[in-house]
Amino acid sequence: MYYPDDLVESIREKIDIVDLISSYVNIKKHGLGYLGLCPFHNEKTPSFSVSQSRQIYHCFGCGVGGNVFTFLMEYDNLTFPEAVRTLATRAGVALPDEVNSEEEKRQAGRKKRLLDIHTEAAMFYYSVLKSNEGTLGYQYFKKRQLSDETITRFGLGYSGRSTRLYKHLRGKGYTDEELKNSGLFTFDEKSGAREKFWNRVMFPIMDANNRVIAFGGRVMGDGMPKYLNSPETMLFDKSRNLYGLNYARHTKEKYFLLCEGYMDVIALHQNGFTNACASLGTALTGLQANLIKRYVKQVIITYDSDGAGTKAALRAIPILKGAGISVKILDMKPYKDPDEFIKNLGSDEYRKRIENAKTSFDFEVGILESEFDLKDPEQKTAFYNEVAKKLLMFEDELERSNYIESIAVKYNIRIEELRKLVVKLSARNAGMPVSTTYTKESGKSKKEDGTKQAQEILLTWLTKEPDIIKRISDVINESDFVEEPYKTVARMVFEEYQKTGTISPARIINHFDEAESQKKVAAIFSNDMPVMNFDRAEKERVINEIVKRIRQQSIDRITRNATSTEDLQKLLSMKAELQKMHISL
Ligand code: GTP
Ligand code: MN
Repeated sequence: MYYPDDLVESIREKIDIVDLISSYVNIKKHGLGYLGLCPFHNEKTPSFSVSQSRQIYHCFGCGVGGNVFTFLMEYDNLTFPEAVRTLATRAGVALPDEVNSEEEKRQAGRKKRLLDIHTEAAMFYYSVLKSNEGTLGYQYFKKRQLSDETITRFGLGYSGRSTRLYKHLRGKGYTDEELKNSGLFTFDEKSGAREKFWNRVMFPIMDANNRVIAFGGRVMGDGMPKYLNSPETMLFDKSRNLYGLNYARHTKEKYFLLCEGYMDVIALHQNGFTNACASLGTALTGLQANLIKRYVKQVIITYDSDGAGTKAALRAIPILKGAGISVKILDMKPYKDPDEFIKNLGSDEYRKRIENAKTSFDFEVGILESEFDLKDPEQKTAFYNEVAKKLLMFEDELERSNYIESIAVKYNIRIEELRKLVVKLSARNAGMPVSTTYTKESGKSKKEDGTKQAQEILLTWLTKEPDIIKRISDVINESDFVEEPYKTVARMVFEEYQKTGTISPARIINHFDEAESQKKVAAIFSNDMPVMNFDRAEKERVINEIVKRIRQQSIDRITRNATSTEDLQKLLSMKAELQKMHISL
C-alpha cells in the first residue's frame, strides 16, 4: 500500500458500498442487505450479497468478497492504488501525487507505451489502405458497400503484403519487448519478429474511451481463420469490451442493438443505427452485460438467425436479465445477419423488425414450442410445465399475470388452469435457501477443520454482536487464534473493540493485501448466522461450546510445547478449570 492507511480509510468512509456497487450491478434489497447476480461468475440465482451496515460484499457462489476498493479492483481490473484514486475522485478527496510508487509509475508507463503502439499501428494500417498498396483491401471494403466516411469513422485499415509495421515501430523507438507485449508480433529465434496480421483488412478495437486496444483482421477471401483477433494483453480483455461501444454509448435511444460481428456493427452504424455493438463472436459475459447497463436498460439482440445464433441468444438472455436489462430478440429471417438483412431489405424494413422484436419470454417460449410435439398429450403437458416454470421467473405479479393471460390465449389453455399450475410450482420452489455453507477446505483433517470452523463462527459472531467480547474476554483472547487470517482478524477485532466499542469489517478487510485472504476475511463477515435467531439459553450453550473448543485447542497446543513438569501441571489445571467455567450472556 502506497497511500497512508488513514487516507485510505477516510476515502472508504465517504463511499457507500451499496451506492458504488449498484452503479455496476443490479442489486435489490433482501432481508438486511442487498442481493444480486454475481458479476464475477455466471449464475442464475443470486448469491452476491452486499451489506450496507458492514460496507462489504461477498458472493456465496464463487467466494469473492471485500470492500469498495477490492470491488473496483476485481470489477475494473485495477491495482489497489488505481482503485484508491478512482474512489478518491468520487469522494472528492484530494490525493498527494508524490506517493505514486516507482513500480506503479513503471506499470502506468508500460500501459501508455502499449496504447501508443496501438495508435501507431492503427494509423499505419489505415494509411496502407489509403495508399496504392492498399487497393486490394480498399476494394474489399467497397465490395461490402462501406463508404469512405464509415472507413474513416471506424479507422479501418489493411495490413498489406509487405511487413513494414515492425520496422516502422522500431523506428519510432519501441523495443522488441514492448512489441512482443503488444500482441501484434510473434518472435522466433530464427526469423525474428513476425507480424501477426498479414494481408488482412483490419478492424481496430476501441475501448469505451476511443482508445485502440486490439485489432481484428479478416481474410479477404475464403481463407482460414476468417477473423484473427489480438491475443489478450495488458490492454485487451475481450470479456470486458464490446466492439462499437465507444460510439453506441452516446446514443439517444433507450436500447442497444447487440450483434455478433464487426461487419454487423459497422453496417448498422452506416445505416443510422448508431446504438449497435457486438460481443465479437465470444459468448456474452456478465462483465459485458454490466458494462451495457451503465448506458441503457434494454437490449435488442440481433444475433445471426442460424442455429448457432439462436443458441447464443438463449445464453445471452439470462446474463443480460441478470444485470437488470430487459431483452428483446429481433427476427432477421430470411437473412443471416444485420449486414445481409440491410443490404437486401434496407434500413426501413430493419426498423420495422426492431419495432416487432419479440420479448425474450416469447422468444424462449417459441423455441420451447418447437421442441415439443403439441399433438401428443404427454408432450403437451410437459410443454405447459416448462412454460409455467418460465412464468415463475417474473417477480412482478402484474407482469406475470399479463404473461399468463397471453400464453393462455395463444395456446388455448384455460387461464385459471395455467395460473394454478404456476402457483403449484411456486409452492414447490418456495423457501429455497440461499446457500451460505461454510467453505470447507479439502485434504485437511476433520478436527482441524472443526477448529477452524469454530474460529470462523466465533469471529463472525463477534462482528455481529461485538458486546459479547466483554463476556468472553476472561476466557479467550486474540492469542488463542494462531492461524491466518483468523489470527490477524481476531487481533483487530479485539483491539478495535477495546478502543472504540465497535468493529468495522471493511477496515479489517483493507488490512489484507492478497485477494485470497480478502476473500476468506470477507466470508467471515458475511456468513449467515442462524444462531443469531436462537433464544438466549440456546445462544449461551453454543457460545460456551465454541469458546471452550477454541481455548482447549490453544491449551493443547501449548501443552505440546511445554518443557517443564511445572508448566504441564499448570496447563492441566487450566484445562480442568476451563471445563467448569460458564460464560453467561
Ligand atoms: P463477415 O463474413 O465478414 O460478414 O463476418 P460476420 O460478422 O458475418 O462473421 P460471423 O458471423 O462469421 O462471425 C461473427 C464474429 O465472430 C466475427 O465478427 C468475429 O468477431 C468472430 N469470428 C468469426 N470467425 C472467426 C474466426 O475464425 N476466428 C475468430 N477468432 N473469431 C471469429
Ligand atoms: Mn456477415
